[in-house]
Amino acid sequence: MALELAEAHLRGLLAQVGLDAEYVRGEGDTLWWRTPSGDVPVVDFVGGYGSLVLGHNHPALVERARELLDQRVPVHAQFSYHPYANDLAAALNRVLWREFGTDEPYSAIFANTGAEAVEVALKHAEMDRVGKLARLRAEIDEHLASADPELAARARAHNEGRFDLPPVFLTLEGSFHGKLAGSVQLTHNAGYRLPFRGLAAQARFVPPAEVTKAVEAERVTVLDVVDGELVERDLPVVAAFFVEPVQGEGGIRVLEADVAAEIRAAADAAGFPVVVDEVQSGVGRTGAFYAASHVGLLGDYIVLAKAIGGGLAKSSVLLVRRSRYLPEFELLHSSTFAKDAFSCHIGAKVVELLEADGGAAYRRAAERGEALAAALRAVRDEFPTVVADVRGRGLMLGLEFHDRTGGEGGVAEYARMGLLGYVLAGYLLREHHVRVFPTASATHTLRFEPSIEISDEHIDQLVTGLRAVCAALRDQDDSALLPG
Ligand code: F0G
Repeated sequence: MALELAEAHLRGLLAQVGLDAEYVRGEGDTLWWRTPSGDVPVVDFVGGYGSLVLGHNHPALVERARELLDQRVPVHAQFSYHPYANDLAAALNRVLWREFGTDEPYSAIFANTGAEAVEVALKHAEMDRVGKLARLRAEIDEHLASADPELAARARAHNEGRFDLPPVFLTLEGSFHGKLAGSVQLTHNAGYRLPFRGLAAQARFVPPAEVTKAVEAERVTVLDVVDGELVERDLPVVAAFFVEPVQGEGGIRVLEADVAAEIRAAADAAGFPVVVDEVQSGVGRTGAFYAASHVGLLGDYIVLAKAIGGGLAKSSVLLVRRSRYLPEFELLHSSTFAKDAFSCHIGAKVVELLEADGGAAYRRAAERGEALAAALRAVRDEFPTVVADVRGRGLMLGLEFHDRTGGEGGVAEYARMGLLGYVLAGYLLREHHVRVFPTASATHTLRFEPSIEISDEHIDQLVTGLRAVCAALRDQDDSALLPG
């Protein structure tokens, strides 16, 4: 056996629950699993964790990729004019203006992955905050220089150290914004975040019912002297509020319109930007291009990744509204690979395919999402003691099992280790040739993110598997579920 050097530990864990399958071909919602007895088709409900809104190897995207290679389009020509990046940014703007009823241009900064674009947002927001802080400080210094010395001394004593407070990022409980050094601090899961807490600014995780209160709790003021009087001025401590329109990795939780409105209002009142993270929910999956458009939450920043690469390219982009955009940021942030011709052209093709026929793809996402949700709800209704909830929007759906950590037996043991969803995924793959995964931070919830072409037959195949899972869980028939 060859030495295993590419994450052998992870492979070992996958093998324990029968998930170390090798897939050798992908088309639409089907993956072919290499087994000793031949390649077996598997229905893929994982959908590249949201990157495959158009499925594996969509023919029009494959053709576009081929054209680009055949034409020898230079993929890397950094520090030159990139009209294709501009075209993609313009296409993203046109959709944004339509869905949100605005006409404000959004500037695009390209990156490579979701977490990287989140970090770009972090940096841009911090640069904005630091600039505001410096202007406020200069203004107060100027006032104090000509103020009554005693008042000035009191103001200086109060303000001591306050301008150096670290930034605070706010985000909702259960959020996931990536796993890089900065972005992982905005990811609620303590297992991912805490080992690296020393590396970057900390976030506050806000319960959805306490948005206004949480923003108020961060209020810090400094003293100024105006017209011979001491006055309080608000210090810009909060750098941004990050929010997912539908929490993905945290368990498929849809952002409620009233919470969205509260976040928007609190940000406007305090002057910090709202960063809408559409990395997983964006690009058509929910029945609109921008998932936040369902709740009318227009972000100051919008992050796209995953599906904008069409399943072929690695690409992400941060959109920043003109009124908040700092052009000088372009000189401070870059990546060798960002804004490359290949990913921009593929991204433009993705938008074109989604926008074709007056947005038929969005209607299809909504219709297929409803078909899948109805099928999942029927499973819940049949097994109410096993299935706790079915939720989501469009083709971003979750099915949550009741807690299984109590009790005896192998399944409960796996559940206590946080592996229930993985054991069930292993069973569904092995016995029903269906690929699903739990959400990584809520392992009692399975998530479903197939392409907009998911067929009724494939949904039936999933339902057959899920009914068998539920029956076995209900009957505590562990031997049916666990690998032999
Ligand atoms: N933001 C959201 C909302 C995400 O769902 C993810 C990734 C990221 C940022 C980071 O993107 O992986 O390209 O760096 N979510 C995956 C998941 C990993 O499990 O849902 P990335």
